[in-house]
Amino acid sequence: MANAKPLVVYYSRVDENYSVGNITKGNTEIVAEMIAKKTGADLVKVEPVKEYAKDYKTCIEESKKELAADARPAFKPVKLNPADYDEIYVGYPIWWGEMPMPMFTFFDQYSFKGKKIHPFVTHEGSGLTGLKRLEKATGGVMAEGLAIYGHVAQKEPEKAQQLVDEWLKK
Ligand SMILES: Cc1cc2nc3c(=O)[nH]c(=O)nc-3n(C[C@H](O)[C@H](O)[C@H](O)COP(=O)(O)O)c2cc1C
Repeated sequence: MANAKPLVVYYSRVDENYSVGNITKGNTEIVAEMIAKKTGADLVKVEPVKEYAKDYKTCIEESKKELAADARPAFKPVKLNPADYDEIYVGYPIWWGEMPMPMFTFFDQYSFKGKKIHPFVTHEGSGLTGLKRLEKATGGVMAEGLAIYGHVAQKEPEKAQQLVDEWLKK
């Protein structure tokens, strides 16, 4: 029998970021929660064991090195059985045009092969990128994605909610 409940899995960073300053809830997290609320999905947050630097500049350097090294930073244990889900919403901030590396560690550990993947990202100009590597990492079937500016999610939640609602209707 098909699983009715979708899963939302995401990474999102707090502290200092481009365009929004110091934040206590990540831009992608705001969108992830909107999607979960509308769809009744379970939420799983991918949290790296070693946090990135709180200041934007250092974080940029750390993440650049990780991407170049194709690193697999460890994430904190989560309670999850992929077999419980058929529809997976995958959310991440665009980092150097790609998914942050802890998401790759996550997909190395949890297989979503053949499942429907709905990507959503927040960004500050790149738009919806990183999809090729996401498809490869999950082995899933890619559905149409959603891209929202991070500062819109953070500062104009009504506008972000509208974009989420329109996307979910498709
Ligand atoms: C390390 C780092 C790299 C980033 N690289 C990009 C990028 O390549 N393209 C882009 O449009 N935005 C980039 N951004 C901006 C983020 O994608 C944007 O602020 C996003 O909304 C952050 O989401 P979060 O609060 O959920 O972490 C980068 C931000 C950080 C911290």
